[in-house]
Amino acid sequence: MSSVSTDEAMRRAIALAARGLGATSPNPVVGCVLLDADGEVAGEGFHAYAGGPHAEIVALAQAGKRARGGTAVVTLEPCDHTGRTGPCSHALIAAGVARVVIAVPDPNPVASGGAATLRAAGVQVELGVRTEEAEAGNIAWLTSMRRGWPYLIWKYAATLDGRSAAADGTSMWITSEAARIDVHALRGTVDAVIAGVGTVLADDPRLTARNLRDGTLAIRQPLRVVVDSSGRTPAEARVRDGAARTWVATAAEVGAGPDGKVDLAALLAELHHRGVRAALLEGGPTLAGAFLAAGLVDKIVGYVAPKLLGAGPTALLDAGVTTIADAIDLELTDVTQVGPDLRITALPRKREA
Ligand SMILES: NC(=O)c1ccc[n+]([C@@H]2O[C@H](COP(=O)([O-])OP(=O)(O)OC[C@H]3O[C@@H](n4cnc5c(N)ncnc54)[C@H](OP(=O)(O)O)[C@@H]3O)[C@@H](O)[C@H]2O)c1
Repeated sequence: MSSVSTDEAMRRAIALAARGLGATSPNPVVGCVLLDADGEVAGEGFHAYAGGPHAEIVALAQAGKRARGGTAVVTLEPCDHTGRTGPCSHALIAAGVARVVIAVPDPNPVASGGAATLRAAGVQVELGVRTEEAEAGNIAWLTSMRRGWPYLIWKYAATLDGRSAAADGTSMWITSEAARIDVHALRGTVDAVIAGVGTVLADDPRLTARNLRDGTLAIRQPLRVVVDSSGRTPAEARVRDGAARTWVATAAEVGAGPDGKVDLAALLAELHHRGVRAALLEGGPTLAGAFLAAGLVDKIVGYVAPKLLGAGPTALLDAGVTTIADAIDLELTDVTQVGPDLRITALPRKREA
């Protein structure tokens, strides 16, 4: 085997970390590559699920004695506290690791301090290798930890002329099966799926992550959240079917904004408190407009079907924009064809205060 650079090892650690996406909340995704004293890969690991061993521990176990005098290359600062597992900083010290290379410091005040502990034990610590790439791979968790509310993705489906239903209200199915399968995969990567009571009353969606062909539920289900100021969600609504946890968030429980409707910022803060780091807002147009107007959307994923309707409700209602100068500017980050449809991913540009 030949030696690898810490840069190469970090690239591998970032790819390893991504394998945990959707399964580690409320923890981050983390990858680790352990190089022995000769710079050869001796072990690697990733954090696969909350409560499971951390990436460093998996890599140390693989490396065994070869960890002594070696380098641990890790996407996030090793934790320094005892939670469901022991502190990784101590495990690295005990294994005799000489150097630790970290892409991103841990913003979590409970777990941070690993770098300082390592340095105090005489371990050489380097920060800042492939930081941007590692941040992108952990964007939902990092954003959520830094500011105290979940990373919010608004997903919608529309025709090429921006309609979400026909004039008679029919909307099944605007987009193709391939696009809907893609949405279910997206649901599997988040901790909560959010819909307004208007959508629940109109469409009675299940909001579960499942195999569309045979209906099998994914092992891990996001929390279903219905934003419902006065508790109008019917007892027999499918979101209450017991297939996944459901929270009907009312204004009485969460707090109300000046319009008497659920205070959306308070709703997100409460979701963060409940361990939600990434959430998928699935509409409808009224609720999506309210979230966008409040500047609470981090990413937009639009599925656009090659169909025209010419009439019928639009995918987005009032988002607080009355003049073109106030349009919500987006930065396109990806355009992919999914079956016959287009999936467009964009990030809202930050507005000047
Ligand atoms: N194309 C798509 O991607 C897509 C996705 C989802 C839905 N849809 C369509 O959208 C239609 C339903 O649209 P909709 O606009 O009536 O439903 P909606 O956006 O799902 O729900 C709107 C309701 O949410 C409640 N709400 C609670 N807090 C709010 C707040 N702070 N701001 C705004 N609303 C708040 C309000 O009812 P209360 O005041 O009673 O709380 C409001 O009437 C359906 O026909 C469905 O097919 C399309």
